[in-house]
Amino acid sequence: MRLNRRKIQRVVKAVLLGLGVALVLVQFVPVDRTNPPVETRVDAPADVVAVLERACYDCHSNETVWPAYSRVAPVSWLVAYDVHEGREAVNYSTWGRYSAEDRAKFRKETWEEVEEGEMPLKLYPLLHPDARLTDADRELLRAWAAGAEEYEDSEHEDESEH
Ligand code: HEC
Repeated sequence: MRLNRRKIQRVVKAVLLGLGVALVLVQFVPVDRTNPPVETRVDAPADVVAVLERACYDCHSNETVWPAYSRVAPVSWLVAYDVHEGREAVNYSTWGRYSAEDRAKFRKETWEEVEEGEMPLKLYPLLHPDARLTDADRELLRAWAAGAEEYEDSEHEDESEH
């Protein structure tokens, strides 16, 4: 087939039309953007909670603020995926469901993920400048995690007394 200008234009038009139709159709795929009720708030000092709210709550709580772009597929699928996976990993809104041991573990992991630069997820602070953590924010999370270690140590002391 020899391609001339008219044929190329026809193909480009068909492809663009196909993409347009596909983009409209994918909007009908249901996306779960529900916020289940907040059961128990994380038992941390108010200044620690404030940092978590700013940088983590969109993916690790039941108080997700769903931005406009989370309403448009296929971006909505990625956002919903991160929120569901994030809540699965640790949810500060269902803190009371975790055992004392798990709560201590999550306190430490909260700091470890931030310390290692794993959390918040890389793309997130670009879209949410509020989620950029200052040295003071990081220090609050570090101190909170250190408190969990002391708590665990005292638990072990109790055990050895028996
Ligand atoms: C944009 C969504 C998003 C934000 C914002 C976010 N996380 Fe996460 N987080 C996830 C996802 C998804 C996972 C599970 C997959 C993974 O580990 O990458 C996760 C996993 C975790 C885990 C478990 C890691 C493990 O190894 O099991 C911890 C702890 C965590 N995040 C802490 C935080 C903290 C603390 C913040 C805020 C400073 C934060 N996250 C912000 C999406 C997010």
